[in-house]
Amino acid sequence: MSVTQPVGRRLTVRDIIQRKSADPVVCLTAYTAPMASMLDPHVDLLLVGDSLGMVVYGLPTTHAVTLDMMIAHGQAVVRGSSKAVVVVDMPFGSYQESPQQAFRNAARILSETGAAAVKLEGGVEMAETVAFLTQRGVPVMGHVGLKPQMVHSMGGFRAQGRTEAEAEAVLADGKAIAEAGAFAIVVEGTFETVAARLTREIAVPTIGIGGSPQCDGQVLVTEDVLGLFTEFKPKFVKRFANLADEVDKAVQTYAKEVRAREFPGPEHCFGIRQIEQEPPGEPARIGPVLPTTSIR
Ligand code: KIV
Repeated sequence: MSVTQPVGRRLTVRDIIQRKSADPVVCLTAYTAPMASMLDPHVDLLLVGDSLGMVVYGLPTTHAVTLDMMIAHGQAVVRGSSKAVVVVDMPFGSYQESPQQAFRNAARILSETGAAAVKLEGGVEMAETVAFLTQRGVPVMGHVGLKPQMVHSMGGFRAQGRTEAEAEAVLADGKAIAEAGAFAIVVEGTFETVAARLTREIAVPTIGIGGSPQCDGQVLVTEDVLGLFTEFKPKFVKRFANLADEVDKAVQTYAKEVRAREFPGPEHCFGIRQIEQEPPGEPARIGPVLPTTSIR
């Protein structure tokens, strides 16, 4: 079954697990209700990624994103969707301290947003935390390879797995997180051979972002896909539209029409008040509205 066909209910993490080695899992990021509702009919999974720090808030990294920000955006995405599985990223500092800290914050995300799962970055070192969460009813999506929250210790946003040792480390990370109970694993910025081996060797779907078509599914940042985020373009991004150009054209036209008093036109106004003629010396009185219109 292709899960992108209507199923009459919201998909679950179990549906995603069942896609292992079957139809590719289609995922995109979403941060707001209107965008979630536009994407929802076409995707299996909506990720409320902490990339929102850079894409929405203009921050240089994801480090300043807070749990409260993720919860507010998670609520919006759940409200705007009815079919896709919604997964919310755990931001930097909200889970690395201890499994208990991770559980407290993951529980807040699930209970306050209605999302189905959380995502957290990390490999072998996070396996204990992933097991702690999954054993207590928190579905977890893993994230290995290029881990943006580790940007400083990784020496920048660079592909992982260049050397034999690095490749083995990515594999060990993915396997540890899968064995700890993650229902799917994002594999970011790594080489095709590494992604292919990891995909073969774990029982849950791998979701690639710069991880090659060998993965069981793909995810991208929606603003990259739509050409709305143009500050930089990672190698693995394909722009399927150039909406920033469309925004530029639309706003130029709006500004021109406002300056020329062409907008708003009569069709955007609530009717015309007749100025009633008064005898000379008396002030003009404003008459009734002709015709009456509603706000819409
Ligand atoms: O934060 C995010 O949007 C992500 C995806 C790019 C995988 O982690």
